[in-house]
Amino acid sequence: MSNDVVEITFAEIKKIWETELWPNKKNGVKETNNWAWLYPSRVLWQDKRIEKNEFGVPYFFGIKNVYGKLVCVNSCFKTTSSHVFSYKDEQYWRSRGLWTSPDHRRMGLATKILNHTSTFVAKKRASWLWTVPRKSALSAYERAGFKKQEDSEFEDGQFGPNCIASKCL
Ligand SMILES: CC(C)(COP(=O)(O)OP(=O)(O)OC[C@H]1O[C@@H](n2cnc3c(N)ncnc32)[C@H](O)[C@@H]1OP(=O)(O)O)[C@@H](O)C(=O)NCCC(=O)NCCS
Repeated sequence: MSNDVVEITFAEIKKIWETELWPNKKNGVKETNNWAWLYPSRVLWQDKRIEKNEFGVPYFFGIKNVYGKLVCVNSCFKTTSSHVFSYKDEQYWRSRGLWTSPDHRRMGLATKILNHTSTFVAKKRASWLWTVPRKSALSAYERAGFKKQEDSEFEDGQFGPNCIASKCL
């Protein structure tokens, strides 16, 4: 395994998301979703412009083993900008769909792909990278510099409990 993070296609990541991360996901596995968040909210809301890619296309990343098989994946996309009346011009990007193959866990791959994602969006002038981790995965995000938003826990009814976590870039 070279351990390099490479850009991959939605078709490649979709196979893993459907079989490993979100099997039988309600409404199917899509490129993005509509959840929006702005610091310091403790709640998420729907912004339909996100799923229509009005803010830009999503990016998909992977780490492959020597046989070319994906052993770690993640994605990111721009979700929204700070409120039009805000004095700050902040750009918010979401990290979504993190997964490491069970036989490659605890080797730092999630840390590596999350750090890559942070650097990638920072170069695109993101101010915040945010995510909705499962409680069981929060420590992997914390290792990569994310902080849990206080009192943000909720039950998604399928793969949770989840919370909101974010990294100021
Ligand atoms: C969460 C997940 C992506 C972590 O991937 P990983 O490549 O093993 O993570 P890393 O090796 O980079 O570990 C990063 C840190 O996360 C924490 N961590 C990871 N797995 C852990 C575990 N089983 N128990 C406790 N802490 C854990 C540790 O703090 C670890 O740092 P350390 O090894 O220096 O102590 C992986 O376990 C996974 O795919 N789980 C199932 C899918 C999932 O929950 N995805 C996230 C959805 S939000």
